[in-house]
Amino acid sequence: MQMKQFAVFGNPIKHSKSPRIHKMFSEQTGIALSYNAHLTSTDNFDKSIKSFFSCGGSGANITIPFKEQAYKLVDELSERASLAGAVNTIKVLRDGRLLGDNTDGIGLLSDIKRLGMVFPKTKILLIGAGGAARGIIQPLLSLGCELIITNRTYTRAQELSKIFSALGKKITSVDFSKLQDERFDLIINATSSGIYNEIPQIPFEIINKNTACYDIFYQERLTPFLSLAKTQGVIQLADGLGMLVEQAAYSFLLWNEVMPATSSVLEVMRKECTQFT
Ligand code: ATR
Repeated sequence: MQMKQFAVFGNPIKHSKSPRIHKMFSEQTGIALSYNAHLTSTDNFDKSIKSFFSCGGSGANITIPFKEQAYKLVDELSERASLAGAVNTIKVLRDGRLLGDNTDGIGLLSDIKRLGMVFPKTKILLIGAGGAARGIIQPLLSLGCELIITNRTYTRAQELSKIFSALGKKITSVDFSKLQDERFDLIINATSSGIYNEIPQIPFEIINKNTACYDIFYQERLTPFLSLAKTQGVIQLADGLGMLVEQAAYSFLLWNEVMPATSSVLEVMRKECTQFT
């Protein structure tokens, strides 16, 4: 039988850890596959995806900045991709049509559960209202958590809160400037501020040693948000490397109908991280 072909599409893509993660899943499960990284551009994205699948590709991951474009491109959407408004995983169906899914939210949820950061009724502050934030709202709400969303541009947080409240969910929005008297069990940074070496300008006093802090991004050193958390005395803090491995595992499950074990893979990735310069 021919080896199944998978790939990740994004820009930039050189430093993607997905090929390495899927190679480990393949070794662990005995499912032979190839997994490559493809650099693409906004103009060429649709063509690249279509040509990958018409040449026998079985599945693709989509990363920054193409998740919304992938959402528009696919023929069918899973419920969670539809709610997220973004697609990070594409699977070709038997009839050749493309199914779009989103495993980012379930990936985050698995990771924060593993870390013991979340329980039903946990009070969570979600910072950010872009595609990344939107993708994780539904999984967090599914646990019965109390979710408060905030964003630098407050109207975007309000809009998201409205969309999910209309579905009967327990979510509210609060402006950065009105946060100072609030306290949270968990604060999740889902902004892209770290990419610019910046920190969202929330009142820093809302972060204390009893607040767990999670940054959905990761880098070799602590992200700026996690450095701040550490300065504020936070004990429980984590970056998004675990989420990356978990979302990859759920993509692997969608494609191959086998759920790989993630903890050993995360351990290897954590050790190798400093070598991926
Ligand atoms: P993504 O799909 O990665 O979420 P996006 O849709 O461009 O990307 O959204 C980026 C998010 O990061 C937004 O919530 C953005 O805030 P604005 O809506 O005000 O632009 C947030 N963000 C980016 N840089 C930030 C910074 N320095 N401080 C606070 N928030 C920031």
